[in-house]
Amino acid sequence: MDTDIRTDRIEKVRDIVSSYLEDIRDPFFRAEGYVHMFGVAQAAVLLAMKRGEDAELAACAGYLHDIATYTTGDSAGHAARGAEMAERILQLTGLFSEKETGKITSAIRCHSDKKSVHGPLEEILKDADVMQHCLYDPGYVSKKDKDRYRKLRKELGLGK
Ligand SMILES: [Fe+2]
Repeated sequence: MDTDIRTDRIEKVRDIVSSYLEDIRDPFFRAEGYVHMFGVAQAAVLLAMKRGEDAELAACAGYLHDIATYTTGDSAGHAARGAEMAERILQLTGLFSEKETGKITSAIRCHSDKKSVHGPLEEILKDADVMQHCLYDPGYVSKKDKDRYRKLRKELGLGK
């Protein structure tokens, strides 16, 4: 167990994200929000552990990454809008340094750009996003996710 991880910060972010999700009226969209954002947070922790990166920041990026989509029901430009929302949320908690907030929001800002390769946390979030989609429905992998999913399966020793 990594003793550097501050559970209180992950809990705070999870509570805030939950409070936003609780406001969604459509029960299916609300459930999807929980499954996807919480699932991406867990996949991000797993990948951070595997790659020797910061699992706590990875979890927070995962919990917050699609906050703009689930609060507005509109996914257009959600990565940039979500990064702005996440910045305000993280600042309001008073628990994250400017540098940590910058790392989390950068990952969120880049996460829709699956074709490019960015820094370690950005890549963890993109891969975790793909992983959650593919674990949710292993029978369907979208065209845009195929390449990353293939590399992820190889990295995790899951065969072709
Ligand atoms: Fe996502």
